[in-house]
Amino acid sequence: MKVRKAVIPAAGLGTRFLPATKAMPKEMVPIVDKPTIQFIVEEAKKSGIEDILIVTGKNKRSIEDHFDANPELEQDLEEKGKTELLHLTQSITNLGVNLYYTRQPHPAGLGDAILRARSFVGDEPFAVMLGDDLMEDKVPLTKQLIDRYDKTHASTIAVMPVPHEEVSKYGVIDPDSEIEPGLINVKAFVEKPDVDKAPSDYAIIGRYLLTPEIFDILAHQKPGRGGEIQLTDAIDTMNKTQRVFAHVFNGERHDVGNKEGYLETSIEYGLSHPQIKDDLREYIINMAQKLQKEDKNSKKK
Ligand code: UTP
Repeated sequence: MKVRKAVIPAAGLGTRFLPATKAMPKEMVPIVDKPTIQFIVEEAKKSGIEDILIVTGKNKRSIEDHFDANPELEQDLEEKGKTELLHLTQSITNLGVNLYYTRQPHPAGLGDAILRARSFVGDEPFAVMLGDDLMEDKVPLTKQLIDRYDKTHASTIAVMPVPHEEVSKYGVIDPDSEIEPGLINVKAFVEKPDVDKAPSDYAIIGRYLLTPEIFDILAHQKPGRGGEIQLTDAIDTMNKTQRVFAHVFNGERHDVGNKEGYLETSIEYGLSHPQIKDDLREYIINMAQKLQKEDKNSKKK
C-alpha cells in the first residue's frame, strides 16, 4: 500500500525552550525566517505525502494560522506593491498538501499524541515526523523510509550514531544484523537508557515509518520513562510480533528543540539565506577574530 499520510506531533510543552515556549509553540520558533514546522511540512511534500495530521494542544493555534490564508495581510502587501512578499505569504497556504488538525488534551507523551491519529490514519502505513528535528540529505529522510517500506512492507525507524555520553537523551536500538547496507534488524528498542546500560550508540531520530498495528499496542501501552506513554516502548512491543527495521541516516540532522542546537542551526541556515548571508558571514568573521583576541589575552593573564 502506498504511503500517503504523515502525522506531526506538536502538542509537547517545549520545556527545554522556556521561557520562549510559555505562550508560543516551539514548532513556530523560526530558523532565520521560517517556522520549523514549515520545514517539516515541506519535507513531507517532497517525500510524496498527500495528507498530514498535525497534533496540537493548548497555545498552539498559531500553527493553524500560519498555514491558513491571511486576507488582511495579503491585501496590504498587494496595495503596497510588495509582490514578492505577497507570493511568499500565499505560497504557505498552497504548499500542495492537505493539512488536518486534532488536539491532544494533555501532553501525556509522544505515544499518546500518535494515538490521536488513529482514525485519520485508518488501516494504512504512515510516517511520523517530529517538529524539532530538521534533516538534510539529497533524498528527504521521510522519502528514504518510504522507499524502504516499499521493499519490505515493514515499520522502519530512522536512527543515527550519537556520542556515547548522549544516548540517555534518546530512544536507542539494540542492533542485530545489518540485512543490507544501512538497514538493521533490531533486537530491542529502549527509551532513554542509562549511559552505562545503552545497548548501542544508534539513537532514534525524529522520523518513523509505522504500520497501523501500532495503534492497538499504543491503546494498551502503560506509561514508561517520565510517566509518559512512550512511542519507543510501543515499537519495541510491535517488534516482537512483526519485523521492525532501523534505517541509518547518513545526512545532516539539526536538533532545534534545544537552545544550542537551535542557535547553531540558525547560523548555518543564515549563511545560505540569500538576503542575509553576506552580512552574517562578515559579522561571524569579525566576531571570531574578537573572540580569539579575548582568548589570547585571557591566557596571557
Ligand atoms: P519532545 O520531548 O522533544 O518535545 O517531543 P517536548 O515535550 O515539547 O519538549 P521538551 O522536552 O519539554 O523540551 C518530541 C515531539 O513530540 C511532541 C512534541 O511537540 C515534539 O514535537 N509531543 C511530545 C507531543 O505532541 N505530545 C506529547 O505529549 C509529547
